[in-house]
Amino acid sequence: MPLRVFVAGATGVVGRHLLPELRRAGHHVTALARREDTAAGLRGVDGVVVADMMDPGALRRVVTEAAPDVVVHQASAFSDTDANAGMQRTARLRETGSRHLVEAAIEAGARRVVVQSMADAYVPNGHDVLDEEAPLWTEAPGYWGELVRSVAAMEETVLTHAEIDGVALRYGALYGPGTEYASDGSMHRRVCGSALPLVEDGIGLMSFTHVDDAAGAVLEVLDGVEPGAYNVVDNEPAESSEWLPTYARMGGGPAPLTLTPEQARAQLDWLTVHQLTEQRGATNFRFRETAGWRPVWPSWREGFAALFDLWPG
Ligand SMILES: NC(=O)c1ccc[n+]([C@@H]2O[C@H](COP(=O)([O-])OP(=O)(O)OC[C@H]3O[C@@H](n4cnc5c(N)ncnc54)[C@H](OP(=O)(O)O)[C@@H]3O)[C@@H](O)[C@H]2O)c1
Repeated sequence: MPLRVFVAGATGVVGRHLLPELRRAGHHVTALARREDTAAGLRGVDGVVVADMMDPGALRRVVTEAAPDVVVHQASAFSDTDANAGMQRTARLRETGSRHLVEAAIEAGARRVVVQSMADAYVPNGHDVLDEEAPLWTEAPGYWGELVRSVAAMEETVLTHAEIDGVALRYGALYGPGTEYASDGSMHRRVCGSALPLVEDGIGLMSFTHVDDAAGAVLEVLDGVEPGAYNVVDNEPAESSEWLPTYARMGGGPAPLTLTPEQARAQLDWLTVHQLTEQRGATNFRFRETAGWRPVWPSWREGFAALFDLWPG
């Protein structure tokens, strides 16, 4: 059944993939841009509106006018050139901006809100690959802890509100065209500039999500699927010692150097060391079972190869 869908974060990496998919599926789409200049680039939708999610009054006006059945939240600020500032701005957006959006959605009579969340925010202990029951690491150090607490607050707002059905899509590391893993992205520069080494005995696991799958997951949960949190990741969580050299080779960079744990702690930021040495992967079992979802990109191997026009292997 065609639905009226309101998309926040429409100008972002996931948003740009999502809008044409929604239209192709026959839905009526209103796209939110934060600024007039970025709004001008949004085409092929039924309506474009401008508001900052940190401004509750402006947001309420545009959501009410759009009268959506479903509100989708794909806004973040990770693309900020300063990574820590980006995490802080994303944390404020997730905690406060999400609350504004849910309030606006309820006032406008929407029945479902779908938000972008994270599958790499779990406490890194226990099993290798974690499901949605694992606790979020709200006590993590520094900006990461701040970000995880904001994610927990956002999910609490969305998943426990009696007046709406809430769905949190917990994405893994987002890769694909337009992301930091693309050949003009910051991860590519880091790896090819030998600025992302391996750590001796590092057993950090990364779960990846291709942007096509990040967008496709939204279409799966617009209607019918049980409210709740779902890991939206590929089928192959990968150790850093596996994905990083593969990415470097496919991306045309040098093989990564290897640091001792002491060297890594002295030379790299806390989050990078955490990701390389102790982060756990996530399983998509719940989403597969509940929604029948299957990733278009089941393994990062094929996804990375496609990024660089190569055959996987
Ligand atoms: N999403 C993740 O979990 C994640 C994690 C780590 C790294 N990354 C990387 O970060 C890059 C960005 O990916 P992304 O899709 O998350 O973000 P993005 O492409 O930067 O998109 C974010 C969207 O949110 C909007 N937005 C930001 N602040 C807003 C506000 N206050 N009110 C309304 N809208 C607002 C942006 O609008 P404007 O265009 O106006 O700013 C944009 O449409 C990619 O390279 C990705 O690989 C993403």
